[in-house]
Formats: sequence, structure tokens, C-alpha cells
Amino acid sequence: MSVNDQVRITDVSPRDGLQAESAIVDTALKAQLAMLVQKTGVTEVEVSSFVSPKWIPQLGDAAAVFDLLAPSKPEGVIYSALVPNERGLNAAIEVNQKARQDHGIERLIDKVSVFTAASEGFSLKNTNATIEETLQRFEPVVGKAHEHGLMVRGYISCIVQCPFDGAINPESVGDVMTQLLAMGIDEIDLGDTIGAATPETLEPVMMEAIDRLDGEPTNSFGDPTLTLHLHDTFGHAGECVKLALELGVRSFDSSAGGLGGCPYASTQSTRAPGNISTLALVQAIRDAGLTTNIDDDALIEASKFASGLIE
Ligand code: HMG
Ligand code: MG
Repeated sequence: MSVNDQVRITDVSPRDGLQAESAIVDTALKAQLAMLVQKTGVTEVEVSSFVSPKWIPQLGDAAAVFDLLAPSKPEGVIYSALVPNERGLNAAIEVNQKARQDHGIERLIDKVSVFTAASEGFSLKNTNATIEETLQRFEPVVGKAHEHGLMVRGYISCIVQCPFDGAINPESVGDVMTQLLAMGIDEIDLGDTIGAATPETLEPVMMEAIDRLDGEPTNSFGDPTLTLHLHDTFGHAGECVKLALELGVRSFDSSAGGLGGCPYASTQSTRAPGNISTLALVQAIRDAGLTTNIDDDALIEASKFASGLIE
């Protein structure tokens, strides 16, 4: 799909990593995590979510985290945040307006990410809406985000397996993807939400997704249109990265310290591993003979800090 040797990484630890923690991490520590992560050389940091604090109280301080990051945003790093609806987008726009007034920053948040699923069961549990209803919520978001100079990522969860609906047909993933692309969404992010994928079960999904891109692996920003978001619940994420790299995928999400244990896969005594750790992702990329901009010392420092937050 792509001939590029450079792989793009989004570190989602401040968002996906912390959203399911039983303890709410202090706002200043969240900002410190994002600052350490942005020094590692990743292209993008997914900082937080503008979602209902009744649903995800852990990230109820999204605006305050961005406020702390504003004075030190580095050149070239993309900041993103999840938004489930227009209200979330408006909150992101307000953060940018404040950063412009207070710090003269043209755009603090560069990208907003809407999220839906390939399974009705997960969509309902996660957003209280059917897949169709989530897509309707995104309609006003995409155009307005673009008017404000924001890129839009569209997550599709449960691309292989849903904790409620079971195995997912790759065509269901493709159909949601086609609708998101038709809406003008710039990047599709495929989520193996519960870390159930193996190379065998992932391959047909990736083939379907690549097919739906219709030979357009990069978007109008010159970035990869397709990103893979793996959780490492059962230890298969590294092999899945290898497969995706072979198929030409050049954009992945990961989290410093592997934060982000999935509550659906944890037991009372054992916490499920979270998103694929950035260290494991970088290793898989290097093993495949490809490159990233990662500074190993900075990554180790960020990973230690991240792990310390959930001990
Ligand atoms: P709802 O209860 O159906 O809708 O929630 P509502 O319109 O009745 O809103 C409920 C309350 O939230 C209201 O407040 C709204 O005003 C408020 P009240 O009137 O009761 O005081 N509200 C908001 N507040 C702040 N920001 C907003 C917002 N919108 C409404 N944007 C809703 C629907 C979508 C809001 C809710 O279900 C929600 O916020 N869900 C978020 C769930 C979430 O964040 N899940 C985790 C992210 S997805 C994920 O982790 C998967 C991923 O990692 C990929 C993968 O691994 O697969 C991305
Ligand atoms: Mg996730």
C-alpha cells in the first residue's frame, strides 16, 4: 500500500491510557506525561477527550490539561483529542481560542477524533447510540472542524471482536469506513479494542480496509489515511504490527508504558495489558527494517513515568 520506510506513531497514553483508570490522575501529572511523551519523537500525542464527564470522569479536565500544555507545545508535534459530538468539538475550539489569546498559538489542538464501532453492541455501550446515530452526530462535526483548520480522525472500534456481539465481519468494518471517508474524514483508525486480534484474524480486516482506500494511502495532508490501534491484551499486538507493516500500513497508535488496560478483559485479580506499548511498537518497526523518529532515552523516561502513574 505504501512504499515509505518512515512509520508514524501516535502516543495515546494520556487519553486511552488513563481513561479507564479507577483512580483519577492529577491534571498536572497528565500534562507532565504528555510533555514527556512529546519529547520521544512521536508524531502525535492524543492528549484527552471532550466527552461527557458522567461517562468518563477520568478525563473531565481535558481543557485544563491543554491549558498546561499550551506554553510548551513543540513545533511539529500534533495534539489531538476525542470528541463524540458537536459539543465536544466546540469545547476543543474554545481551547484553541483561549490558547490563541493567551499564548499567540495559532492552533493548540490540531486534530479531533470521532469514534464509532463496527459492532452495534459496543457502539451502544460506549456512546449510547447505534452506529448510524453516531455517524449522524459526526455530520456537523467534520465540516466545522475543517472550517477551524482541524484534521479529523475517525476511529472504528471492535474491528475483529466485540465483547458483546462476538466476531466481526470484515465487511462491517469496511462499510463503516466507507461512510466515514464519504463524510470527509481525513484518517481512519482501526481499533482492536479488546486486543483479540491475531495476524490470521486481522489480515482479512486490513485487506478489506486497504481495498476501501481505493489506492489512496495518503490523505490531503500527506499523512497515512489508515492507522492501526492495537491493544495487547493477549500478547499478539507485536505480530499484528508485523503483519500490518507487511501490508503497507505506516501509522500506528501505542501508549508509553503500555497504559490502557481494557476493563472488559481484566479480572478482579489481573489487570489486562493495555494499548501496545510504544517500546514494543518501535521494536516491531525496527525488526521490520523500517524507521521512526523515536529517541530511545526519552521513550524510556516517558514509559517509566507512565507506568508510575498507575502503580
Ligand atoms: P448520552 O448520555 O447518551 O447523551 O451520552 P446526552 O446528550 O444525554 O448527554 C449526557 C450528559 O453529557 C448531558 O449532561 C450532556 O450535556 C453531556 P447533563 O445534561 O446530563 O448534565 N454531554 C457532554 N459533556 C461534555 N462533553 C460532551 C458532551 N456531550 C454530552 N461532548 C455521549 C452520549 C456520547 C456524550 C456519551 O456516551 C459519552 O461521552 N461517551 C464517551 C465514551 C468514551 O469516551 N469512551 C472511550 C473512548 S472510545 C475508545 O476508547 C476506543 C478507542 O480507544 C479505539 C479502540 O480501542 O477501539 C478510541
Ligand atoms: Mg483503545
